[in-house]
Amino acid sequence: MYNRVKAEIIEKLKSIVGSKYVLTDKESINLFSEDETEDLHFPPEVIVKPSSQFEISEIFKLANQYKIPVTPRGGGTGLSGGALTVFGGICLSMSRLNRILEIDKKNFQAVVEPGVITQIFQEEVEKKGLFYPPDPASRGSCHLGGNLAECSGGPRAVKYGVTKDYVLGLEVVLPTGEIINTGGRVLKNVTGYNLTQLIIGSEGTLAVITKIIFRLIPLPKYKKVILAAFNSFEDATDSVAKIFQSGITPSAIEFMEKAAVRAVEGRQNKKFPNSEAEAQLFIEVDGSYPELLDKDIELIAEVIDEFKPLDVVLAEDEQKVQDVWALRRGIGEAVKSISPYKEEDTVVPRANMTKLIKGVKDISSKYGITTICYGHSGDGNIHVNILKDKLDDKSWNENLDIAIKEIFELTVSLGGTISGEHGIGYSQKNYLSIAISKTELELMKKIKNTFDPNNILNPGKIFAN
Ligand code: LAC
Ligand code: ZN
Repeated sequence: MYNRVKAEIIEKLKSIVGSKYVLTDKESINLFSEDETEDLHFPPEVIVKPSSQFEISEIFKLANQYKIPVTPRGGGTGLSGGALTVFGGICLSMSRLNRILEIDKKNFQAVVEPGVITQIFQEEVEKKGLFYPPDPASRGSCHLGGNLAECSGGPRAVKYGVTKDYVLGLEVVLPTGEIINTGGRVLKNVTGYNLTQLIIGSEGTLAVITKIIFRLIPLPKYKKVILAAFNSFEDATDSVAKIFQSGITPSAIEFMEKAAVRAVEGRQNKKFPNSEAEAQLFIEVDGSYPELLDKDIELIAEVIDEFKPLDVVLAEDEQKVQDVWALRRGIGEAVKSISPYKEEDTVVPRANMTKLIKGVKDISSKYGITTICYGHSGDGNIHVNILKDKLDDKSWNENLDIAIKEIFELTVSLGGTISGEHGIGYSQKNYLSIAISKTELELMKKIKNTFDPNNILNPGKIFAN
């Protein structure tokens, strides 16, 4: 189907980006064979590190000519295998395009290259009193380009929206080699189809992003956090919907069941205030007036009280808040270290979350699998980690796929969908038809074909065939 990367092509790649930036040594190949998705391992034939859109354009011309797959890669923190070179070929590392080109304080905008690490960008804009809210758990190492590819969300999405809500325009290289600019430095734009938003969330299958124009907002000056511990997960998830009904939109409202809390406590050797509880909510409010935040917290505490919590703790000082966030961000890694696993990223309308988790637990007991649920409960976005744990190989192999299908069918029947923020990529592509109709799928494939007629850009992703 595809050709191998022969010595002749390696030489041509070297002449495009410079010898130093074409890697074929064993160690690099190994490093770029994996991301954060389960135990997947797909070695690229070569890793290429371009420094500009022009070099990427040349690489695509070559790849089309020789029919070699090109898979773009950011920080390698993806959770659906989107950056994995499943057909070998070229791994296009974006790490050298890592400049913040401009932070425009007057217009609340920024122009950046895709290889900038998300946390570095957040900190730079915050120094100027501005705010870039999308906040994936991997922010310390993920790239903004990868965040756009997956349309990352994270905890603050509940109040501030997801990555796509902050992108005004792009420069991209099409897989056919042309360089185009989409959108622009304006807050309103109804000029032709919205290609910017089509490319965001397309998981690196339509174009390679080489520049991003972001919109920013003013930085909220104050934050308050409460941690509430409950006797059952139902009490926790039911109280989430009630908090919104009381008229408050927290800046984050994170859910963790006991097993998730225990896993991260063990991994980080730190303690939550009450880890005996069946479930916890970590609720943050932010704004410019501390008195108003006190009022919000009071009201939230009243709502929670109806559910007879075991414990409600206000994290007043900044260090405590940081500590709880560090524990929360570490859950994914901690849960995954327990045993072989499969990670799901279900999302339902917020008020249906209790039904979702209950259904997940019923499916778990039916098939003897262990599931650990945590995530962004304000968005109804629950990460379901399915663990092999003590299950024998035969039952795991036989039941895993059936259990996932049932979980996804339940999710869709509750008005939800099968990925909120991790994407379909490689690991979820066999399930896409549970959430998407045949006609939609065909339309999507036609779009892919229009952008990439030779199917050389990140093949083997999103679509099962
Ligand atoms: C999190 C990642 C797994 O929420 O999305 O921690
Ligand atoms: Zn998440």
